[in-house]
Amino acid sequence: MPAISQRARAIAESATLAITTRANQLRAAGEPVIGFGAGEPDFPTPPHIVAAAARATGDAVNHHYGAAAGLPTLRSAIADKTARDSLLDVDPAHVVVTNGAKQAVFMAFQVLLDPGDEVLIPAPYWVTYPETVRFAGGVPIAVEAGIDLKITPEMLDAATTDRTKMLVFTSPSNPTGVVYSPAEVAAIGSWAASRDIFLVTDEIYEHLVYGEAQFSSIPAQVPEVMEKCVIINGVSKTYAMTGWRVGWLIGPGQVSAAAIKLQSHLSSNVAMVSQVAALAALEGGLESVAEMRVAFDRRRRRMFEALS
Ligand SMILES: Cc1ncc(COP(=O)(O)O)c(C=O)c1O
Repeated sequence: MPAISQRARAIAESATLAITTRANQLRAAGEPVIGFGAGEPDFPTPPHIVAAAARATGDAVNHHYGAAAGLPTLRSAIADKTARDSLLDVDPAHVVVTNGAKQAVFMAFQVLLDPGDEVLIPAPYWVTYPETVRFAGGVPIAVEAGIDLKITPEMLDAATTDRTKMLVFTSPSNPTGVVYSPAEVAAIGSWAASRDIFLVTDEIYEHLVYGEAQFSSIPAQVPEVMEKCVIINGVSKTYAMTGWRVGWLIGPGQVSAAAIKLQSHLSSNVAMVSQVAALAALEGGLESVAEMRVAFDRRRRRMFEALS
């Protein structure tokens, strides 16, 4: 048999899966364990979202291909939601609906990186970042966070070379859960704005903040960075919809146009029924998941208390 591609050979297996398996084993053995592997709410998708999807299965429009960029109504709802939560005005035409935020990350790297481009990734990081950077021909550069699990502009400076093409920023972070303060976000944003690099900001955990912690979006803090910034987000974590596979990226016009072209060859469009479900989630607003979230938070608190 001829060899599979070098690209495919270079990809490592998901460490998240291994951690999740180990956590399950320990739990089965009676150990009080909190898994930091696969991250998802433990409650089902709220019923009004499931009902909207059930209705959508009966509409023949959803039995056929849709626009590669996503349902126009969903793209508009995403723009509205971004204005509400990230305090950013974005053009719905710059929104690309993807199969989960994971595909948005993958596509962003594919359309922005050339072979040898270095990508700064604050460590500890979500394992998908370095693997998908490599798959795009890029070189992941881990920037080790300090004792507070955060990176600073000085650390980014120390890791920068003339090949640096991108910074990936995630707050709240997976796996550490750390949330940068608005001032820290502004400092990282100003650093990125002053360099000739792209910024990919993954906002998927924006609503999983506790206590004093406050989510803030980099381009809202530093508007100059918007012209080279790609925002990643989705409904998976906020609305307990990890199985529906709906995420998105929002980029500058040229970047979004390239991502739409890629999407048109990759998967044509995200499943229509899932897009209708995501639209119902966004239109229902955060209040519709508030009750389930409170119960979820209570369960997590009990888990932490059991460990302490
Ligand atoms: C930081 C981060 N970004 C993106 C994703 C992907 O989310 P989705 O389920 O929408 O693909 C995850 C999932 O674990 C994640 O931890």
